[in-house]
Amino acid sequence: MKISVVGTGYVGLIQSVGLAEFGYEVVGIDIDERKVKLLNRGISPLYEEGLEEMLKKHLGKNLRFTTSYEEIKDTDVIFLCVGTPQDKDGNADLRFIYSAVESIKRHLDDRYRVIVVKSTVPVGTSRKIKERLKDYNVDVVSNPEFLREGIALRDFFNPDRIVLGFGDLNNPKPIEVMKEIYSYFLDRGVPFVITDWESAELIKYAANAFLATKISFINEIARLADVVGGDINTISRALGLDERIGNKFLNAGIGYGGSCFPKDVKALIRQFESRGIEPKLIKATEEVNEEQICWFLNKIKRYYGDLNGKTFAVLGLAFKPNTDDLRESRGIKLIDLLLKEGCIVKCYDYVEKARENAIERYRLNNSKAYYGYNLYVLDDLYEAVKDVDGVIITTEYPQLREEDWEKIGNLVREKVVFDGRNILDREKIKRLGFKYFGVGRN
Ligand SMILES: NC(=O)c1ccc[n+]([C@@H]2O[C@H](COP(=O)([O-])OP(=O)(O)OC[C@H]3O[C@@H](n4cnc5c(N)ncnc54)[C@H](O)[C@@H]3O)[C@@H](O)[C@H]2O)c1
Repeated sequence: MKISVVGTGYVGLIQSVGLAEFGYEVVGIDIDERKVKLLNRGISPLYEEGLEEMLKKHLGKNLRFTTSYEEIKDTDVIFLCVGTPQDKDGNADLRFIYSAVESIKRHLDDRYRVIVVKSTVPVGTSRKIKERLKDYNVDVVSNPEFLREGIALRDFFNPDRIVLGFGDLNNPKPIEVMKEIYSYFLDRGVPFVITDWESAELIKYAANAFLATKISFINEIARLADVVGGDINTISRALGLDERIGNKFLNAGIGYGGSCFPKDVKALIRQFESRGIEPKLIKATEEVNEEQICWFLNKIKRYYGDLNGKTFAVLGLAFKPNTDDLRESRGIKLIDLLLKEGCIVKCYDYVEKARENAIERYRLNNSKAYYGYNLYVLDDLYEAVKDVDGVIITTEYPQLREEDWEKIGNLVREKVVFDGRNILDREKIKRLGFKYFGVGRN
């Protein structure tokens, strides 16, 4: 079986490399020429642990990349992995999906093919894709992706479940094809949820909205704990020990970001509203998250008064550890707010590519400092904290706990830490003479 993967971003590239590792012949198709060139040289345009090694292992053997849709002619299964960003009204923008479908259509012939929608798409999209391809010998399958950036390869090979949505559950052909492609998972007892298109599409949105709701829930409790004097880390731990609740996605902080939760929660809200239903809980999830970063900024303001002219080290650019993805990163949001307040910001991230992406985002010059913005992206954490009025933690890097905080204390102008991810050992930091401000643990 030959496979093509359309869109080679975080999802498509992992899918391409993962399927190549299973032994399939895979061609990745992307409209971004620069990306395709890099990939064909064995360079991953994005950072994921182990990805570049696996890419190199299969490149030129059973894996290659192209900008030409003609290649789908030779393939039996086409995975659709293009982006579905947020449009100006918060809906999922399906432009890339439909443009890819039109490109695929131009190269279809009599041969039977399965088109698998991996992109996160609103309910009804798989049906619409099938409608557009009704004159062709194709079946459309909804196969939402649940990988987490930062550990995406690990997630690819160890999924919690495989969700497959079909237009007609009495049609065995696409079901057999999908079972064959994912036989590695079937053999290992991974649960398969075989259902209709609509359920599969909704499962993805519901999963993301539920996880986002857990985060907003604990952040709301943290706001009260901050005032009444509890410690949200202890509260979260105790909550998580209850099997019915579970301990995941219960860390209080400055809110969720990334390429999925913010846009998917918004798109789900729009799906309710367009059908005249008010999504009360999910709307509240989004509101709490939007407010959380301002709530945290106010904490900083309350300590310093006027922020104009203050210098801060912001530790963490990516939306989560071990990725270079800055999309909707809370760290970037906070940097923007601090710059607006007239602050000087010196930032750092452990992932080099995240720093490079920040330099690109702010169009910084080669010296990695853009004086007009008073923003500096530094390659060394200890450089970033030098002479600052406060250190702000924005990404949940466990390495931060192991840093030499005594040395940091000697480098800063004022020993103050705003721990936006509650990652530090509060007592240890205080013993070193720092003033410590976390989220819900004052
Ligand atoms: N990133 C994640 O962690 C994640 C997890 C689960 C689901 N998803 C979903 O998967 C989808 C892809 O996300 P991503 O993060 O990989 O996006 P991305 O932006 O990293 O990659 C999308 C790729 O599609 C390419 N593309 C756009 N239009 C194209 C076209 N017409 N033909 C060929 N290529 C085209 C782009 O050049 C880009 O390389 C989205 O719907 C997203 O919501 C993402």
